[in-house]
Amino acid sequence: MTEKKNQIYEGKAKKVYATDDPYLYIVSYKDDATAFNGEKRGQIAGKGIVNNTMTNIIFKIIGENGVPTHFVKQLDDRDTIVRAVTILPLEVIIRNVAAGSFSKRYGVPEGTALLRPTLEFSYKKDELGDPLINDDHALALGLIDEGQLAQVKTYTHKINEILKGFFLGKGLKLIDFKIEFGTDNKTGEVILADEISPDTCRLWDVVTNEKMDKDRFRRDLGNVEETYQEVFARVGGRAEGDNY
Ligand code: TMP
Repeated sequence: MTEKKNQIYEGKAKKVYATDDPYLYIVSYKDDATAFNGEKRGQIAGKGIVNNTMTNIIFKIIGENGVPTHFVKQLDDRDTIVRAVTILPLEVIIRNVAAGSFSKRYGVPEGTALLRPTLEFSYKKDELGDPLINDDHALALGLIDEGQLAQVKTYTHKINEILKGFFLGKGLKLIDFKIEFGTDNKTGEVILADEISPDTCRLWDVVTNEKMDKDRFRRDLGNVEETYQEVFARVGGRAEGDNY
């Protein structure tokens, strides 16, 4: 049986534990929420359960569609066994519709449709506030190699197509999202890691355009917990106490 051993990492929303198998970790999702590089802090009750289960539902679909992921097995509401990876220090963002920092940076109103899915990278470095970085910068700094970069881009566009259709079927427009990749510690292959959840996606209701994601927390829009539960119900999440 795979069990948690020593904690090897604690992030803003998750803890990662080693197991007896050096090639497997257990991730444990917390209710902690931060925004603006940790300046705003709070809790969203039940978020860990929503994000754990929702990520796993989505990672299974992505895996079935040919993009390898770190998902192995959900243990309970908050804990999941994953393949041990070394995270590439790049946040990979795709935007379908202008919002957030893109709107601010380029002076484009939120909600403006983009002519094509737009990929961008941020350098994962909290001290610097995760700055925008381009391909050349990332290659010059040795953050990723050319083969990995090409793989990440191909996978990310494919994931965008899968997710757009998936969320549309749940009455949600996928405005943008952030994902992270890692290299599998056993095989070296680039695989999808981290999470896909209302923390890491912008999702707007198709009918009302209501924000159904972490922007409710970031921007103090209210109904934060209720919104996470609504998204969870729409994606077919399971109730607390279910067996996995
Ligand atoms: P942005 O418009 O603030 O750059 O955010 C783009 C997308 O990335 C949005 O879906 C929210 C997500 N995101 C994260 O998952 N983590 C972060 O730290 C930030 C800043 C954004």
